Amino acid sequence: MSRKRVAVLISGRGSNMVALIEAAKAKDYPAEIAVVVSNRADAGGLLVASAAGIDTEIVDHTKFGQDRDRFESALQTVLESYRIEIVCLAGFMRLLTANFLEKWQWRILNIHPALLPDFKGLDTHRRVLEANAKIHGATVHFVVPEMDSGPIIAQAAIPIRPDDSEETLAVRVLKVEHRIYPLALKLVAEGRVQLKKNRCLIDGVPVPNVTDLAPTDPI
Ligand code: GRF
Repeated sequence: MSRKRVAVLISGRGSNMVALIEAAKAKDYPAEIAVVVSNRADAGGLLVASAAGIDTEIVDHTKFGQDRDRFESALQTVLESYRIEIVCLAGFMRLLTANFLEKWQWRILNIHPALLPDFKGLDTHRRVLEANAKIHGATVHFVVPEMDSGPIIAQAAIPIRPDDSEETLAVRVLKVEHRIYPLALKLVAEGRVQLKKNRCLIDGVPVPNVTDLAPTDPI
């Protein structure tokens, strides 16, 4: 089995990146993390990746001013130099243009801390509490030009408790993020995700119910 070469793109601490690096340590995992790329030189995840023996690269968006095309072409050059086959956004805080995404169509994944299609965008934990929602969670999806809107590959839900705060939700959602991102990457790397009418099928059937994807131990 040839393992798919993956780039993880980060902007911050990189806990999802770590989850992917850990998963890829298993011999039978179908992907390897070939490089971690950050758009910020001070991203904490860079040191963690280096300590794990993974190559790191910085493509500093501020050097390109408002010129997104030049930023993305620098990014593309890095990805090509590592012969990357799949890109995983993991707390990468830049929007990517349609032009760039076209090159990576169905080969670029993102993780979002909410149950999409609800609560797109930032500050999801605050907003679910304000909305008095009862269920929250995380979603891995293919990236399309419209933010947080691509076909869903994996989701996991958690209950919202009466005493939950943004902080407690952040901790519990992150726990499920760390489970579903490695799972989703595995499915994509194994070629088990197909698209039908803009929806993902896994092994030919719709993405299972969220609760079937998340282990049921207390979270
Ligand atoms: C995660 O909550 C992820 O869902 C969101 O950004 C956060 C990144 O956290 N896209 P980390 O850097 O992976 O710890």
